[in-house]
Parts: sequence; C-alpha cells; structure tokens
Amino acid sequence: MTTFTIEKTDAPTAPERRAELLANPSFGRVFTDHMAIIRYNEADGWHDAKVTARRPLSIDPASTVLHYGQEIFEGMKAYRGEDGHIASFRPQANAARFAASAQRMGMAVLPENLFLQAVDELVKIDQDWVPSGEGQSLYLRPFMISNEVFLGVKPATEYLFIVIACPVGAYFGSGCVSVWVSENYTRAAIGGTGEAKCGGNYAGSLVAQAESKAQGCDQVLFLDARERRFVEEMGGMNVMFVRNDGKIVTPPLGGTILRGITRDSLIKLAAAEGVEVVEEQIEIDELFEGAASGKYVEAFACGTAAVLSPIGSLRRPAGEAKFGDGTTPGPVSLRLKKVLTDLQGGRTNDAFNWVHRI
Ligand code: PLP
Ligand code: COI
Repeated sequence: MTTFTIEKTDAPTAPERRAELLANPSFGRVFTDHMAIIRYNEADGWHDAKVTARRPLSIDPASTVLHYGQEIFEGMKAYRGEDGHIASFRPQANAARFAASAQRMGMAVLPENLFLQAVDELVKIDQDWVPSGEGQSLYLRPFMISNEVFLGVKPATEYLFIVIACPVGAYFGSGCVSVWVSENYTRAAIGGTGEAKCGGNYAGSLVAQAESKAQGCDQVLFLDARERRFVEEMGGMNVMFVRNDGKIVTPPLGGTILRGITRDSLIKLAAAEGVEVVEEQIEIDELFEGAASGKYVEAFACGTAAVLSPIGSLRRPAGEAKFGDGTTPGPVSLRLKKVLTDLQGGRTNDAFNWVHRI
C-alpha cells in the first residue's frame, strides 16, 4: 500500500449547501471538495500521492497534453447501499482498462493497485457526497495527462494522474433515447485508438454529437470506418439490440470500440437470467428493416454514465427505425436494468464478486 498524504480542504462545502446540491445533482456539473493526485517522472517513477483540496491545476503552456493530446480517462461510480455502505462496481476492470489505454497512448502505466487506492481514498474523504436517491451515485473520473514541458513529438516523460468526483443523477431524462446514425463522421478505424479511453476519441466525436442534437436526437451512433455499414457504438456508450427470438445482439470487440464494462457485465448478467447475448456484426440497413418487420424489438445504450438507457428510435437521412412504439421501454431492457442496478446498489447477491465495499 502506498501512503497517500491527506490534505483536507480548509474550505469544505457547508453541509446545507451539499444537501441542496445532492438533491438534484444532474450530470457532471457538481464536484466534491477533494481530488486524488499522483505524479510521474522518469527519475522518481510514481510519487507524491495525495488527496488534497480540489482546485485548478497550474500547468506550463508548453505541457505536451495541450499540444498533442496525450490524455486518457476512466468513468466509474460509487453507490450508497440501503444500509448506508458505499461500494464501487468492478473497479479492477477500470484499473486494467486504464493501464491498457496508457499503453496504447504511449503513456506511463499506473500500477493498478495505485489506481484502486487513489479512487478509494478519494471516496473515503468525500463519502458524504455519495448521494442515496434513486438512480444517483458518485461518478468518479480518474484521468491522466502528459505534462512534460517540450514541443517535440514523442511520448512524454512526465504525467499527472488525478481522480475527481461528482455526485450524479441520470445521464438522460426518463423514457427512451433517440439516436442519430452518423453517415458523415466515423469514430475509429482499425489500428487506431478506438479501444483506448482517450480524450481524442471524444474530441473527434463532438461534431457528430452536435449534428445529432441538431437533428433532434439525444445521442450519435457510429458505423465502421471502412464500409460505413456495420454498427459500432455510440458517442459515450455501447449498444445492444433485442431480437424477437429472445436473443440480444451487440457489436463484437474488434479494437475500434470501447470494451465497455457495463457491456461485459450485461452479457454475463443476461446469461445468468437465461438470455443469450450474441456478439456479431450488425448491418445498419438490416437493422432498419428488422425494426420495421418486428425482428428487432428493443434497443438500448449501456455504459457507466448511461447505465442502461432504452433507445426508442434510430434516425438517419433516409428515415427512422422505431423499437416498439418508439417511446415505451421494452421488457427485456427494463428487466436487465433492474438486475444491474439492484446489484450495483447492493440489493442482490453479488454472485460475480463485482461489488467492492469502500
Ligand atoms: N463506449 C464509449 C465511447 C464510452 O464513452 C463508454 C463509457 O465509458 C462506453 C462505451 C461504456 O463503457 P463502460 O460501460 O465501461 O462505462
Ligand atoms: C462514462 O460512461 O463513464 C463515460 O465516460 C461516457 C460519457 C458519456 C460520460
């Protein structure tokens, strides 16, 4: 165990103000009082681990992250159980994916135990910020930036790893999400960085997300970069479709989509419920036809932020595909969402040993 220096803020948020913020946190705009931070350089390795007041960073304008975008991040949540205990969900999977992202981006690899410890230390110090309302949790955002002061193009030799936290409610409003199929933009090509959780993947997706919004949709769905024929994933979540034979289909992991931890959890939880999830390529034209013919009866997005969000419709320039009546979440989506959230909230038996008490 590394010793983290704990420097508690001398200006904590007043309990009344915190209660007000926790009552309606929305997503991603309210932050806790502290952050965890660990530094890396070649001479000292990972060092100076601490939990300190959350405050602006001071970095040199020549820091490499500002120019070449060496940045990776994770998204995970801590939940308050009915008996008041706090637990995170599959944090080891986030730590492992973070290490894989670092490797892909040529960054220093943070040992997984340090990642896990930093997250736990932050949750412990900010435990009063973990909300308990339905659908609420403490969203944790571990991230790493390169901060060597140098304008040459090469992997940096200095990094900052930081964890910040924000109490959150639902990412989407209630009901079903509408999704725009991007025909103008793709997210990731074979051999690219699609499987890494790096900021650049999101930067490149924002214009497509804006296009989706301009079309009146909530999210964007990307197709494969080679043929623009097969479904890949959405801007910030994986995607699954329920067929009328009772099976669920989801695009396979081929290096261009994120290895979603929610995706993996749902595949295993569905199997335990007797529902098979088939990982296979899904042709976009066949999906639109299948939605119209009744072959595809439900669709949903899945991810840490999105949890499991039913999709009511897919739209593209040539038309619309509705799942069910387009506005009512289907039974398979609702059942799987309950199985997942009951487990995350500590309300059911943790058969997979995924719940990590903090
Ligand atoms: N795909 C993308 C592009 C994402 O941003 C996310 C969210 O983190 C996911 C998929 C789902 O991953 P996870 O379930 O691990 O949150
Ligand atoms: C997450 O689900 O953790 C993400 O990073 C996706 C983003 C839409 C918040």
